[in-house]
Amino acid sequence: MKGRNLLTLAEFSKEEIIKILDLADKFKKQRKNNISKKILSDKTLAMIFHKPSTRTRVSFDVAMNDLGGNSITLNSNEIQLSRGETIEDTAKSFSRYVDVIMARVYNHRDVDNLAKYASIPVINGLSDIYHPTQVLADLQTIREKKGKLEGLKLTWIGDGNNVCNTLLIGCSRMGINMQVASPSNYKPNREAYEIAKKSAEKNRSRIEVINDPKEAIKDADIVVTDTFISMGSDSERKERLKAFLPEYQVNIKLMNRAKKNAIFMHCLPSHRGEEVTEGVIDGAKSIVWDEAENRLHSQKALLAFLLLDEDSF
Ligand code: CP
Ligand code: NVA
Repeated sequence: MKGRNLLTLAEFSKEEIIKILDLADKFKKQRKNNISKKILSDKTLAMIFHKPSTRTRVSFDVAMNDLGGNSITLNSNEIQLSRGETIEDTAKSFSRYVDVIMARVYNHRDVDNLAKYASIPVINGLSDIYHPTQVLADLQTIREKKGKLEGLKLTWIGDGNNVCNTLLIGCSRMGINMQVASPSNYKPNREAYEIAKKSAEKNRSRIEVINDPKEAIKDADIVVTDTFISMGSDSERKERLKAFLPEYQVNIKLMNRAKKNAIFMHCLPSHRGEEVTEGVIDGAKSIVWDEAENRLHSQKALLAFLLLDEDSF
């Protein structure tokens, strides 16, 4: 995987994703035992943020630090991009200084262009369409909690957004059946759905997008939601809340329709009282803090695979 980009998650095969998850588990164990191997000692990550971030920013920074490397965090208003320098020139300049770029952007095209013009790996740290580093952590967390991936049912309730689109790709690839319940105007992205559909056929998993949350949550092993108002959609707040509430809120009553041992996931940040109630996100079935922690371990694994030869770690 050395030298590759992570833009949508579709770049990686099932076998490659398993390798990343296995290494992520290994790094997690090592960290608990205070073992840290400085395998990225001469490497630097540059992070560009067009939007705010808590978890992505801190977990990537700590990931590089744990592995002995450096990271540079840049809000886009601090660099010449904000004064009209092109993505192309930015990518070419960064490629002369650092070893890998992580970018959080509004428009997915920006991260595609960074990857096109950079001569080093580019990681999408969230765009309007995809959030692949989140889904790597989610897959690690699901496997950790359920002991497997294949044959599980994941239900997404709410906005068919960037996290949902990437979960469609990740789940279909790993053999998880995924059902999405969202209002008609807030369905997942068409391109992501088509990629996932093909992947599902190959891996004998099922994906389906419907309207009814009560129907979708039946027999779910994993229930996932996210904000109704993603970064960049703030001006739509009123109409979005009207479209989603109350039907698409994950509350205890809805959660009780899933399997008895179902787990609840959310990439965070959450909005208690909107997409999820306190009773669910702070309740016994919620695994959101493990999910957040696994961003760190899975990103360490990702960085190792993108930056090093596999036989060197
Ligand atoms: N889940 C996630 O990406 O969180 P941040 O926006 O805090 O990075
Ligand atoms: N869907 C959310 C995810 C935040 C991590 C957003 O794009 O704002």
